[in-house]
Amino acid sequence: MNLNYWIEHFRRNALDRPEPDWDAPLVMSGPPLEKLVKSLQQFQLGDGGGPAYLIAWNHRRLLASDVGFKTLVDLWFKEEEGHSRLLGEALKRFKTPEIQSHWSFEFFCGVRRIAGVSFELYALLLTEITSHVYYKMTAKHCPDPAVKGMCALINRDEAGHIAFHRARLCSEGARFGRGYGKCWEFFFRLRGLAAGTVLWVNHRGALRGMGATDREFYSGIWRGMSGFIRGLREDMLRQGAGRPAKPCAEVVAECC
Ligand SMILES: [Fe+2]
Ligand SMILES: [Fe+2]
Repeated sequence: MNLNYWIEHFRRNALDRPEPDWDAPLVMSGPPLEKLVKSLQQFQLGDGGGPAYLIAWNHRRLLASDVGFKTLVDLWFKEEEGHSRLLGEALKRFKTPEIQSHWSFEFFCGVRRIAGVSFELYALLLTEITSHVYYKMTAKHCPDPAVKGMCALINRDEAGHIAFHRARLCSEGARFGRGYGKCWEFFFRLRGLAAGTVLWVNHRGALRGMGATDREFYSGIWRGMSGFIRGLREDMLRQGAGRPAKPCAEVVAECC
């Protein structure tokens, strides 16, 4: 991977980040707000609020073998910590405490620890794709201006994270002779639908309470996975033909 290219992306992305207007007048109340804050509590814990780093039993071996990759992983998780901070500010706005644990988060962390770093990176990538859809739908349907501003900031980062994973898999594909064919796509989509369903089980009430639909969520994650697969294959062809990599900003824009 081009280390400098991605360090520059994270450096640029840290600039010009207008803080959401946490003091804007409240426009939500009743059951829709109650469901929304429960959903935000879970995201505050899961999106950079728990162990905001790789936790698989063998992650240190991978990071020690590639100092450049470790630098990018550090920058990636620094942004994830920022998401937890933003979600914490949203909870303060709605006078709701943070939570310290949730069954789905404990289960997710347990599987990541046991299954190894390769599985963990895929699990995190699929979580990025499904969460990206959650934040986009929340930005669209939630009437609260501060939550909309928060989702815009987080989504900007998540598009970069998805693009970073695309570049990582492209580089691995060249190194280990992987082709990302139909069989890989089948299991990728299967795991993505499973990750999306776990998310939807926990957050459906909040999004439906604001007017979103099941169809919107599932078509969103299907499109997110399709775009990722298409982009990765294009990058592989470009790499195989010896053409220069696409500019980082272009890859990020494709993942938005
Ligand atoms: Fe995040
Ligand atoms: Fe992310």
